[in-house]
Amino acid sequence: MDMRPELTDPLEERRALQDTESKIALAGHPLHAMLVAFPIALSFSTLGADLLYAWTGAAFWAEAAGYAVFGAFSIGVLAGLTGTAELLLVRGIRSRSASWTHFILAVMLLSLLGANWILRIGDPEGAVLPVGLALSLVAAGMTALTGWHGGKLVFDYQIGTKSDGIDRP
Ligand code: HEM
Repeated sequence: MDMRPELTDPLEERRALQDTESKIALAGHPLHAMLVAFPIALSFSTLGADLLYAWTGAAFWAEAAGYAVFGAFSIGVLAGLTGTAELLLVRGIRSRSASWTHFILAVMLLSLLGANWILRIGDPEGAVLPVGLALSLVAAGMTALTGWHGGKLVFDYQIGTKSDGIDRP
């Protein structure tokens, strides 16, 4: 006789937990997905401009890096606000641990971008070497990780989509 307890998956049992459709959207298109392109591109641009400054010594690149990291941080915060609203408002999103993992990664990334911006205020050139460049490198790595994980939420777990949740791990 099989003595193992009968285990059930709460996500499959409860219909409400299968609702993962984005609520912060424009004509059905999630704002978060539209906004994240900017911090991703600008975070890598900051690293590129820092490397060009280290290579050429031209003040232009240090200033460009300062503007890029400001853009990455400020639009990243906007994207974070739309993502957090989804996380808190949509039951099927907040009940999945992967959403919270993404939130933690994103908050770490935004802290790095914010620190990298504040460091450069008033002295964009002096801030690049070595601390600014080091922060840009770590932030670019964190951006890749957070962006990849965001894609995983959507394409692997169908979070933010209209899927009915069948066959979702
Ligand atoms: C700060 C808190 C954040 C929260 C709570 C959050 C939450 C979410 C959620 C719930 C989704 C699923 C799609 C949706 O419902 O819109 C998502 C997707 C995604 N997130 Fe975030 N996010 C945050 C910040 C960020 C940041 C800073 C980035 C930038 C690297 C990012 C990158 C992505 C990407 C690339 C996707 C996939 C978008 C797609 O292809 O449709 N997220 N995020």
